Amino acid sequence: MSKRRRVITIHLPHREPAVPAVLTFALVLLGVIGGLSSYVPDWNVKEPATPSIQAPNEQLASRALNERVESLLGKMTLEEKIGQLTQYSAGTMTGPGTARNDYNDLIAGGQVGSLFNVVGARLTNRFQRIAVEKGPHHIPLLFGYDVIHGERTIFPVPLALASSFDPALVQQVSHVAATEAADDGIRWVFSPMVDIARDARWGRITEGAGEDTYLGSAMARAYVQGYQGNDLGRPDSVAACVKHFAAYGAPNAGREYNTVDMSELTLRQVYLPPYHAAIKAGAATVMSAFNPLNGVPATADPFTLTTILRNEWNFSGMVVSDFGAIKELIAHGVASTGAVAARKALTAGVDMDMMSDLYRTTLADLVNSGELPQSVVDEATRRVLRVKFALGLFDHPYVDESHTPYVATPEKRALARAAAEETLVLLKNDAKPIPFAGNVLPIAKSTPTIALIGPLADSQVDMLGSWSAAGDPGDAVTLLNALQDRCNWAGTKLLYARGTEILTDSDEGFADAVVAAKKADVVILALGESAPKMTGESSSLTRLDLPGNQEDLLETITNLGKPTVLVLFDGRPLAIKWAAAHVPAILEAWYPGIEAGPAVADILFGDVNPSGKLPATFPRAVGQEPLFYNQLPTGRPADDIDLSHPPTGADKYFSRYIDETNAPLFPFGFGLSYTTFNYSNLKLSQTSISSTALSQPTQGHFLSANRIEVTAEVKNTGPVAGTEVAQLYIRNTGGSVEEPVRELKGFQRVTLAPGETKQIEFTLGFDDLSYYNLEMTRVIEPTQYQVWVGGSSLATQETEFEVTGE
Ligand code: NOJ
Repeated sequence: MSKRRRVITIHLPHREPAVPAVLTFALVLLGVIGGLSSYVPDWNVKEPATPSIQAPNEQLASRALNERVESLLGKMTLEEKIGQLTQYSAGTMTGPGTARNDYNDLIAGGQVGSLFNVVGARLTNRFQRIAVEKGPHHIPLLFGYDVIHGERTIFPVPLALASSFDPALVQQVSHVAATEAADDGIRWVFSPMVDIARDARWGRITEGAGEDTYLGSAMARAYVQGYQGNDLGRPDSVAACVKHFAAYGAPNAGREYNTVDMSELTLRQVYLPPYHAAIKAGAATVMSAFNPLNGVPATADPFTLTTILRNEWNFSGMVVSDFGAIKELIAHGVASTGAVAARKALTAGVDMDMMSDLYRTTLADLVNSGELPQSVVDEATRRVLRVKFALGLFDHPYVDESHTPYVATPEKRALARAAAEETLVLLKNDAKPIPFAGNVLPIAKSTPTIALIGPLADSQVDMLGSWSAAGDPGDAVTLLNALQDRCNWAGTKLLYARGTEILTDSDEGFADAVVAAKKADVVILALGESAPKMTGESSSLTRLDLPGNQEDLLETITNLGKPTVLVLFDGRPLAIKWAAAHVPAILEAWYPGIEAGPAVADILFGDVNPSGKLPATFPRAVGQEPLFYNQLPTGRPADDIDLSHPPTGADKYFSRYIDETNAPLFPFGFGLSYTTFNYSNLKLSQTSISSTALSQPTQGHFLSANRIEVTAEVKNTGPVAGTEVAQLYIRNTGGSVEEPVRELKGFQRVTLAPGETKQIEFTLGFDDLSYYNLEMTRVIEPTQYQVWVGGSSLATQETEFEVTGE
C-alpha cells in the first residue's frame, strides 16, 4: 500500500538562515537581519515588492536614503542618469579595452558613474574632484577594483581560504582588505566570487570556495560581513560584489566563458545558494556572468536577474555587467546591434555597463524613440545611486592622501601568516623510506642538510596567486627565504637548486638538483603552477598533471630514496597520481600570500600542526572531471565492485570507468594532521521528527522541536595538540527527487590537546534538510536521512532519522 506523501511548502526568502557550524556568525547575522526595517520601498516600477518581504540590506532600503535618491533623480536629465550606468577601466586592463581614454571630459560631462582599476588616494581623488567639482549635481564616482584576497596585504587565494573551513578567518582577512582598499580610494570590491566549481580544469576554481554549496555559502557570508561590516557608510567599509551571477563556475568541459547548461533543480539546489547567502548577508552589488545559462546569456537573463534576484530574493542593490559582456551579446547571437544588446541587458536587470560603452552610446536614443521605457533607466539609476548614498560617498567623496604609504607591518604579516597556516592541507605523510626512522614530517630541527628543489621555491610573484590587486610581489617571503632564515638559525645546511622552470621541457637543471638531493637528509620539492599564467581567469586546462617537465623532476628526485616532501603551490587540484603513490609526504600549499614561506616552514617543521581540509576533490585522472563528492546516485552504483581492474564480466554494467577507479585521489574535506582524531558516540536528539515541526518558521529562535540536534565526541588520539575540522554529512532518500549521496551540512574547527575529548554539536533544521521539488519549491517530505560525522566526506560514524508526514 503506498503511503500518501504530504508536502510542506515554505518559501525560503521569508526564512531566517540556519547555520549550525558557524553559530556565532549566524547569530550576528540573525541579529542584523532580525533588525531590518519593515519599510518596503515602492519605487520599483517593474515589480512592486510584496509588503511582507524585507530587503536583505537595510541601508539600501531605508526611507531616508531613498528620499535622497528620489530627490536627486528628479533633477537629473536622461543623459546624466545614463552616465551613472556607465563604467570604464581607467587603469591596468583586466579585459579587452574600448580604446577610450577621454575620461576627464566624460566625467566632467556627467557621463561616467564608476571607474575601476584606478588605485590610490591621489589618483582616485583626482578623478573624484572632476566628478564632484565639475560634474552635474556633484555626483561622486564609485571606484571598483578586483580585491579578491587582499588589497595590499595579499592573503591566501580564496580556494586556500576555503581550506581553513574558518569563516571567522575569512571575515577577518576581508575586513583588512576592505580597510586597505578604502585607504586606496576603492569603496567597491569585485568580490566574493561564490561560483561553485566542480571541475578543476576551470582556472577560476582558485578564486572561489571550491565545490561545495554549504561551505561556499558560509564563505560567501563571511566575505560580505568582512567587507561591509554592518554599516556601508563606515569609512573602512566597501561594497561587496557577488559574482558571477549565475552558475559561471560550471562551463561545459571546464572551458572558460563556455556555455552552462543545467537543470533548474541543480541550479537552485547547488549553484544559487552561495549567491543567495551573500545577498542575505547584505551584499550591496552583484556582477552578472559572461556565460549563457540554459540558452540565455547571463547578461540578458531576466530569469536570474529579475525573477530570482529581485522578485524572489528582494535584492535592492545594483547589478554590474562583467567586462564588456553587454557587447558580447552580439557574439552570443542574441543581439544584432549594440543597441539591442544594451536594451536587452538593461531590461533583464543589468544596471551598470562595465566596458561595453553601449549604455552611454545607445540608451538615450532607445528611450527617445520609445523602444525603451524611461522608467527602466530610472530604476537602474536608483539602484546605482542607492549604493553611492549608502557608502556615504556624497558626504565624504575623497580619501585622505596623507596616510602613511603601505607597509606590510608585523601585525599584517602575523595575520597573513596565521591565515596561510590554516589553509595548508597535508595530503600524505608516510614513514620515511628505509633505513630512516619516523614519518617524513615534521622535519626534525636538528636535520643536518636539507635540499630545497623546484621552480616554486623562490618565486615571489607566484606566492601571491592570481588577482593580487595592489599587492607587491616584493612583499612575499618565499620558501627559500624562510628556510634560509631557519637553517641559519638552526645550523642546518640548506642546498637550493631550481631544478627546472615551471613550464619548460629542458632538463638542464636536473643534474644540480640530483647533486643537492643526494647530499641531503631531507628533500623538499616545491612544484606546481604559474599563478599568473595558469590560474585565474582564462586559464582552463585539458591536463591536470604537473606542468612542463616537473613530473620528470619529481620522479627523478623521489627515486633517489631520500625522505622527500612535495610542496604544491597551485590554484587547483592537480592529478598527482604518481606522487600520491610514491612521494612519502605531500603538502598542498595553494598560493599562500605574502607569508607563504614562513607559513609553509612552520608546518614542515611542526611548529604548527596542519589543519586545512580540501574544499575541492583531487582527481586521479583528468578524465574523471567534473569530479565532486556530492554526486547524485545512479541506478547502477559501483559500490561493492572491485574497480582496480577492467571489468571481466558481471562487473561490467555498473557506473564505472574501465581504465580507472571512480574514487578520487583525495576526497573533499580530507586533510591530515600530525596527530590523529577519533570520532565516537554519534547521537541524535530524536530519531523521528515531523515535517510540520521542521517546517515551522523559527523566527530566529532555535526551537528544539524544529530541529535535530546531532552530537558526537572527537578525541585527539595522537601525541601532539591539533585542530580538527569536524564535518557533518547527510543523505536523504525516499523523496520526490534524487538527493546527493552525501551533502555537507555542518562543520566546526575543534582544537584538542593530546588525549583530550570534546563533544561537538550540530543542528539540522529546515534550511539543512529541505530541498527543491519538481515545482521548484523548497520542501520537507516524509523521508529518511542518514547522518555521518567525521574528518572528511568519507566519514564513517553513521546514524539515521526519519521525517514523518505529520
Ligand atoms: C572580468 C572578470 O570575470 C571579473 O571577475 C572581474 O571582476 C572583471 N573582469 C573586472 O576586472
